[in-house]
Amino acid sequence: MKALKVSKIKNGTVIDHIPAGRALDVLRLLGITGKEGFMILVAMNVSSSKLKGGKKDLVKIEGKYLTPREAETIALIAPTATINIIKDGEVVEKINVSIPDVIEGIVRCPNPTCISRKEDEPIKSKFRVINKSPLRLQCYYCETELEEEDLSKYVVG
Ligand code: CTP
Ligand code: ZN
Repeated sequence: MKALKVSKIKNGTVIDHIPAGRALDVLRLLGITGKEGFMILVAMNVSSSKLKGGKKDLVKIEGKYLTPREAETIALIAPTATINIIKDGEVVEKINVSIPDVIEGIVRCPNPTCISRKEDEPIKSKFRVINKSPLRLQCYYCETELEEEDLSKYVVG
C-alpha cells in the first residue's frame, strides 16, 4: 500500500506512531482546539508497519513545542508515540515517550470516594504503573485499577 502523503511542516512538533483512533484524545489533552490559529494536520488510521493492527494516527502542529509535562501526558494515552521536533524543516530531535513508574497528578482516580477526589481537601492523585504494555495503573490511595483503553477518560493533563 502506498504511503499516505501528509505535508511536511517547517517548525513545530510531529507526534507520530499514535495508536490508531487516539489522535483526537492527544489534541484534547494538549488543550488544542484549532481555534488557536496554528496549522494542525491530523491523519487517522493510516497504514503503519510498526504498529499493532497495521494502523496509526499522526498529529503535526506547526509552531508549537511540547513541555516535558505534555510529553508525559501523551505517553499515557499514546505509549507508542514518537515526538519529533522540527526546526527549519528538519527533524532535530526524536523523543520516544516513556512512562514513569509513578504518575502524580495528570490522571483522575475513577473511584468517586477516593481521597484524591475529596473536594474540600484535595490530595494530588498518585498512581503506580503496574504494567507498561498494555498500560495498567493502580491508585496509590484506594487501589482502584485503570486499564489502557479506559485511560483517556481519566487523563486530565
Ligand atoms: N516530518 C514533517 N515535517 C518535516 C520533517 C518530518 O512533518 N519537515 C514528519 C515525517 O513526515 C514523519 C516524522 O516527521 O512523520 C518523522 O520524520 P522522519 O524521522 O524523517 O521519518 P521516519 O524516519 O519515518 O521516522 P521514524 O523512524 O520515527 O518512523
Ligand atoms: Zn483512588
